[in-house]
Amino acid sequence: MDKEKLLDMFYKRRSIRKFKQDAVITDSEMDTILRAAMQAPSANNRQTWNFIVVDDRDKMKEITKVHAYSSMLRTATACIVVVGETPKEGGSVYWQQDCAAATENMLLAIANLGLGGVWLGVYPREERVQGIKRIFNIPADKTPLCVVAIGVPDEEKAMEDRFDPAKIYRNSM
Ligand SMILES: Cc1cc2nc3c(=O)[nH]c(=O)nc-3n(C[C@H](O)[C@H](O)[C@H](O)COP(=O)(O)O)c2cc1C
Repeated sequence: MDKEKLLDMFYKRRSIRKFKQDAVITDSEMDTILRAAMQAPSANNRQTWNFIVVDDRDKMKEITKVHAYSSMLRTATACIVVVGETPKEGGSVYWQQDCAAATENMLLAIANLGLGGVWLGVYPREERVQGIKRIFNIPADKTPLCVVAIGVPDEEKAMEDRFDPAKIYRNSM
């Protein structure tokens, strides 16, 4: 694949926080997003992730009460709560990394489907973790890492080139 075409897949992903109201995400699009999530790498291939697909507006509004920076959930079509299997009962010490890798895969899929999304951090903010656990009946041995809001974009964001050679070292810092 040509370099520019490949990088374009990543450049297309920006956080979208304005969504068209009453827009639809098809089952096929949601399936693609979840398939992308579950193709992520995970420590020892343990796949310590779970995904709660939420399209119930009341539940989405409830999230905004426990998460101060999630107001876009009032207009997003859906969201996905990413829930990790912690070591408490058979999960992995790497659950955060596993779930983060799955989340980034979802965001890339969302952007490349022409949809918009944004990562809403939950863990390790205890009040958000407890609030989300309560809303979605998440058992004690599982912990929500984040919520991904998804919808049809009602804003355009330009590509931001963040390549910074000063961040790169060779063989030693
Ligand atoms: C761990 C994490 C937590 C984040 N939490 C929020 C959040 O709570 N609300 C929000 O609007 N954006 C959140 N973001 C999105 C960032 O603000 C965004 O990725 C960053 O500003 C870079 O912009 P871009 O995504 O458009 O490239 C979060 C991103 C990450 C990786």
